[in-house]
Amino acid sequence: MSDDVTRTRDEIAGVAAEALRHLLWLRDAGVREIAPPAAALRGGDARADGGPVGRREGEGAAVRGVGTSASTPTANPTPTPTATATPTATSPQTATAPATSEKGCGSPALAAIREALGPCTRCRLAAGRTHLVFGVGNPRAELMFVGEGPGADEDRQGEPFVGRAGQLLTKMIEAMGFRREEVYIANIVKCRPPENRNPEPDEMDACEPFLRRQIAAVQPRVVVALGKIAAQRLLADPTPISRLRGRWAEVDGVRIMPTFHPAYLLRSPEEKKKAWEDLQLVMKELGRAPRR
Ligand code: URA
Repeated sequence: MSDDVTRTRDEIAGVAAEALRHLLWLRDAGVREIAPPAAALRGGDARADGGPVGRREGEGAAVRGVGTSASTPTANPTPTPTATATPTATSPQTATAPATSEKGCGSPALAAIREALGPCTRCRLAAGRTHLVFGVGNPRAELMFVGEGPGADEDRQGEPFVGRAGQLLTKMIEAMGFRREEVYIANIVKCRPPENRNPEPDEMDACEPFLRRQIAAVQPRVVVALGKIAAQRLLADPTPISRLRGRWAEVDGVRIMPTFHPAYLLRSPEEKKKAWEDLQLVMKELGRAPRR
């Protein structure tokens, strides 16, 4: 057999293995049905739609229809920011996973979680919110940040970490060598607690399953838990943040690094050095060099 034939066979086997991994990931993320790519329905070439073979690294094919994506869960490309809305009502014939234009829903799995949340009234925080703050960022990020809950700015804008603490978080992300759009950001609770009080246990209980599903959908390599509330909740461990921080933990196969909350760092800038040490452990884990 010629080298060319062997190489072609190996390539086909590689593509098939990658497609299988992707299907298993979709299944685990809760996707039950996949619509064929539009071009296939027309009898055309799927590659014309940026489909399995022709899709370039970084293209967010998932929102355009899960059947067109060949990316693996570990590839973690940054999506294009054009997560255009498709109808959330699905007919059996066009059962692509639901998509929405809302922030943080840039994959079928995330869009399905957002749809499951709906206009949530599972806890008393719903009454005081302007926006339910679902999340933001790369749906296949290798790095995810989880904070406590939206503040006034986040409630107004519907995006996590956009106020003063958020600006510091963005600087921390960039210092780690990432762009904000490359990571995924969410909170323990998705609605603003009144007067920025800590979320109550029953409020966190109501919201936590959705955050866990978001983590499972994004499949980050590392989650950074920002502050006491996020760290203690994610780890189910009441140890003070001063002792949790800087130590790796693992939950459901995801590595978790607790560190101080950016709002705390704004109040106690002398603690920034410790937070930076924690983030350097994360960078080492992800093979990242600090941005100069
Ligand atoms: N603090 C948080 O914990 N989350 C936000 O989204 C903003 C501030």
